Amino acid sequence: MPAQSMEELVSLCKRRGFIFQGSEIYGGLQGFYDYGPLGVELKNNIKAAWWRSNVYERDDMEGLDASIIMHRMVLRHSGHEATFSDPMVDNKKNNKRYRLDHLVKDQKADVQARVAELMGVDPENFPALVAALNANPAQASQVLRDAGVRDSFSGEVGEWTEPKPFNMMFKTTIGPVADEDSYGYLRPETAQGIFTNFKNVVDSTSRRLPFGIAQIGKAFRNEITPRNFIFRVRELEQMEIEFFCVPGTDEAWHEHWLEKRLSWWEAQGVPRSKIEILDVPKEDLAHYSKRTYDLMYDYPTLGHEEIEGIANRSDYDLGSHTKNQAELGLVARVEENTDSVAKLTIPHPETNKPVVPFVIEPSAGVDRAMLAVLSEAFTKETLDNGNERIVLKLRPHLAPIKVAVIPLARNREEITSVAKAIKAELQGLGLGRVLYEDSGNIGKAYRRHDEVGTPYCVTVDFDTVGKGEDPALTDTVTVRDRDTLAQERVRISELASWIQAKLR
Ligand code: GAP
Repeated sequence: MPAQSMEELVSLCKRRGFIFQGSEIYGGLQGFYDYGPLGVELKNNIKAAWWRSNVYERDDMEGLDASIIMHRMVLRHSGHEATFSDPMVDNKKNNKRYRLDHLVKDQKADVQARVAELMGVDPENFPALVAALNANPAQASQVLRDAGVRDSFSGEVGEWTEPKPFNMMFKTTIGPVADEDSYGYLRPETAQGIFTNFKNVVDSTSRRLPFGIAQIGKAFRNEITPRNFIFRVRELEQMEIEFFCVPGTDEAWHEHWLEKRLSWWEAQGVPRSKIEILDVPKEDLAHYSKRTYDLMYDYPTLGHEEIEGIANRSDYDLGSHTKNQAELGLVARVEENTDSVAKLTIPHPETNKPVVPFVIEPSAGVDRAMLAVLSEAFTKETLDNGNERIVLKLRPHLAPIKVAVIPLARNREEITSVAKAIKAELQGLGLGRVLYEDSGNIGKAYRRHDEVGTPYCVTVDFDTVGKGEDPALTDTVTVRDRDTLAQERVRISELASWIQAKLR
């Protein structure tokens, strides 16, 4: 059974070294997390699985790693300067700030219903309620007070200001000059690096439509209320594809990617039955989107929340970044586009005339993927002896440690030298991390490796080195299976191929 609560996951992640609070020794920094020794392995394995599936196993994809800090004009013409904001309200009593929709969502049902009633909106239609509050700031401020909306920090009814948009992009100065224009933005999505390199990739690879560009990297959002562990953070990582296609074929490609992405999640142990597909209502679409499917995974404690968005971005971005839009017959996205030096077009495969392609964008969060994968793998079991164990039943390709090699006696050179040689041989197979583990207590080692999801533990004992009771066991080791707990004696000479076959 998957994790029942977020607390179970938070506790395991801290205890076993998956995830730590960022800047913890100074009290922590809200919305920033550090990935520990096992977290970095799991994260790398998720990213590698995504890259393998979306780049190596297809013949219509290229990869990219663009810079994080971007020219401010990129984010102006992408529409982020004007629209990448969330509505924020302040409580004048204690100067705490809240994202409007989070504030209302966190209220008790009767308070939420009262807000809806005073705004004249159906209480079941939460997006419409938030839209109404946003559209009528003065009324919203009064309604929040009259309905008795409480501050989650103080627990008291707040003295709420009018909601106002808060732009979530991080700005940073560039170089030693401090004039007003020497600033850039930390990218709020990796996508813009793909759009700005579109021409470079086409020119250097001779790609024709349809094809895609994949990128994994950090993105930054100054979230008003980061929360729910790594679900909503200010420094996040995204796995994004911009798939460029001939206008008119975009809707079919949208369906193609929806299917591909659902089956990828399934292969990571996140079943379709736990993902709802939300066809995002028109009024909630991002500024660039023609249509978006949000994949809503059923997170413990949180319920269904977005794990990935699959958007049809039309020709919005390439069009906006293109010089001479009028010449190409594009509707101008911004008043004038004098800053770009590029015409982001590609020959139409049939007419050879320059065309601005349409774009399908599957965009998944690595941090949210970590949470879902951990949540699905988390299992509590009662053993035959009545003891309880926690075991992470991760798919082997995601397990942070593939095999732990454990010498039964850590001070006996004849045993440790064999264990070290086995570790070196298995590590050489290129399966991922193989750990030499000589903490001394075999029972504790098994428990730890269950909790971090190590598929196999290999134990080297006195029998292995011919000093046990059964000479037939010389040159064999015990291999313990994480899920079945079965223990099998395997010849050292056959161990590498045995492990390879099991982990494949
Ligand atoms: N380029 C499109 C884009 O950025 P998005 O829906 O804003 O679309 C895509 O983000 C994915 O990035 C989300 O589905 C989610 O998995 C992840 N994500 C977005 N904001 C996040 C945050 N503050 N913390 C963690 N993950 C986030």
